[in-house]
Amino acid sequence: MTTFDRCYNIFDLREVAKRRLPKGIFEYVDFGTADQVSLAENREAFKRIKLHTRFLVDLSKRDLGTELFGKRTNLPFGIAPTGSAGLMWYRGEIELAKAAAAAGIPFTLATGALTSMEEISKALPDSRKWFQLYPWSDEEGSYEMVTRARDLGWEALVVTIDSALGRLREHNERNGFSFPFNPNMTAAVDMLRHPGWLCRVMGRYLLNEGMPTNANFPDRYRHAVIDGKKRTRPKRFEAMTWEHIRKLRDFWPGKLIVKSVLNGDQARAAVDHGADAVVVSNHGGRAFDSAMATIDMLPEVVQAVGDQCTVILDSGIRRGSDVVKALGRGAKFVLVGRATLYGTACGGQAGAARAIQILANEMENTFGYVGVRKVSEIGPHIFASRNHGM
Ligand SMILES: Cc1cc2nc3c(=O)[nH]c(=O)nc-3n(C[C@H](O)[C@H](O)[C@H](O)COP(=O)(O)O)c2cc1C
Repeated sequence: MTTFDRCYNIFDLREVAKRRLPKGIFEYVDFGTADQVSLAENREAFKRIKLHTRFLVDLSKRDLGTELFGKRTNLPFGIAPTGSAGLMWYRGEIELAKAAAAAGIPFTLATGALTSMEEISKALPDSRKWFQLYPWSDEEGSYEMVTRARDLGWEALVVTIDSALGRLREHNERNGFSFPFNPNMTAAVDMLRHPGWLCRVMGRYLLNEGMPTNANFPDRYRHAVIDGKKRTRPKRFEAMTWEHIRKLRDFWPGKLIVKSVLNGDQARAAVDHGADAVVVSNHGGRAFDSAMATIDMLPEVVQAVGDQCTVILDSGIRRGSDVVKALGRGAKFVLVGRATLYGTACGGQAGAARAIQILANEMENTFGYVGVRKVSEIGPHIFASRNHGM
């Protein structure tokens, strides 16, 4: 029996991850920003929504799958970009991508991933793969990565637009944790206190390939940490505007997804500049502590652009019922970040698969109570009152 067999929900997986990971890494994943208000609000907003029960519907044939960008996905959720799966488990991004592929759902590789997109493509030639971009002021560097994803034929480019300035994450500084990985003394002591993780994860990197790096960065940035030349790190794109989205649109032949849209105006701007989809996201409460909960802003975005582009939601999904609530409020698809990271930390591919399975089982259970058999039957009628629905 593996440790995560006894994990019955995402919160159980989180507890195992907390024990296994060094504190600095766990808090990097688990925490939000500043006073952690937005992080908590994402959950509270889901909890406030109540659903209408409807029984004695023939539930004998059920299907959790749906269509996304003209193709079937076995579940209505996929894997959000997280620049740290590779610290949850040795080559964690490949493990997580394999779990997604086995479940028949899309996987997003983050700009800062520790595994290259070429390795992911090689391991999983036929799965649905999206690449997430944090645009840099060195546009040439950004386009080098986008070109590689394009040449590999990846389905979608996810451009995250909330990163022009840094984030307030005091916990990382307190823990001596930085990402990309460059541990100081506090972090080194923290790692030594977690010998299991040190052997299973960091030890294997050090033995096989050395200190992990941002594998998708152009070489001039990728080895900057190892060389100790911090000044060669890519700089945030403080001057970025919607015109740069238009430029990426003109360059990128696949689906263009704009991530971190939180209201109707921003969603309309994304569509006007060529987005095929928007992700209603507050970065899982990790970016701006005064952000609204995404599930509360979803109806406004759906009303603004729901008939012109695919509306996706993330931030705060911990239960299958949350996925159903998001679909009920008009999202076509949902992304999960921490839920599958906790799973990856517990058991690599098998742990990530467990997280996916938990969410799917809980979704199916919710289907039974709200009386729907498939995603297309989910609508505003599932909410206990109009107030809760919208
Ligand atoms: C540890 C961690 C790293 C993340 N890294 C990125 C990233 O590199 N790029 C990005 O667009 N979003 C990143 N995110 C945000 C996720 O894509 C997603 O928006 C968020 O996790 C959703 O909230 P949830 O964790 O409550 O599901 C990260 C989230 C976590 C937890």
